[in-house]
Amino acid sequence: MPKISVIGAGNVGATLAQRLYEKDLADVVMFDIVEGLPQGKALDIFQASSYYPTDYTIKGTNDYADTAASDVVLVTAGAARKPGMTRDELLAINASIVRGVVSEVVKHSPDCILIIISNPVDAMVVLAQQVSGFANERIMGLSGALDGARLASFIAMKLSIPAAKIEPCVIGEHGENMVVIPRLTRIDGKPLTDIMDQDQCQALCQRTIKGGAEIVSFLKTSSAFYAPSAAVARMAEAVIKDENLNICAVAFLNGQYGIKNVACGVPVVINKKGIAKIVEYQLTDSELEALRASAQAVKDTVSKIN
Ligand code: LAC
Repeated sequence: MPKISVIGAGNVGATLAQRLYEKDLADVVMFDIVEGLPQGKALDIFQASSYYPTDYTIKGTNDYADTAASDVVLVTAGAARKPGMTRDELLAINASIVRGVVSEVVKHSPDCILIIISNPVDAMVVLAQQVSGFANERIMGLSGALDGARLASFIAMKLSIPAAKIEPCVIGEHGENMVVIPRLTRIDGKPLTDIMDQDQCQALCQRTIKGGAEIVSFLKTSSAFYAPSAAVARMAEAVIKDENLNICAVAFLNGQYGIKNVACGVPVVINKKGIAKIVEYQLTDSELEALRASAQAVKDTVSKIN
């Protein structure tokens, strides 16, 4: 039986566990340090299984041993943003949480694929790689799958078409230095730049870059969780089903796009090996410059850990 563990039973973690379980994909374990929280939420999700039938199990736990031999481990643990905060302001607290979590997780699931959601996610992927010692291909982070879905939703609202028809391209840091590429965003094969003028494209790019903050400003006490959990569930599904899914995600770069020794959002192919491939699009000079500046911003963030 495939097995997926979700670390953290907050809004993102619990919604993610629910989505995974309802996808009928794998046994799901939800871990949290808060006693009762993962147990209660897992039991509640299981009690919905009359309406979402599955042969798989779901378990909530405070013991890492229950996550043992997971195929995929999804790390959502950490603090989320409050209104006005950037993702980078979470660095100190989340670095210490992610370091602790990853070292426990890899003791129990030495062969897993790790997917990091905790922010600032690009830097947390670098940290997780250092702590786990895993090969680069076995670690990835949530960025373009979510930011691209947000861009698609904004285009869908404007054009009154289904968001699922849109193939978005959002790369770089999951933060202020995100690189949204309208030229490589396609609708029925047509570039967005053929459908909208430059000002309209720019407005959509800006709204995408601030997409997470827009939700935080509505919710006030929480950051987004429905779209983030949907995007991660899709990534985990691609691993479990060995799909060769084309999507954008945080990956460790080793010379691709002229970037080295850091992780940031790029187009990838995801299958059971993790990042099976980093896809190198032909970028324009200004797109490439923006991506490299974004990677440099991640390096600067990483240098502030420790
Ligand atoms: C967001 C969080 C997941 O963008 O970073 O909503």
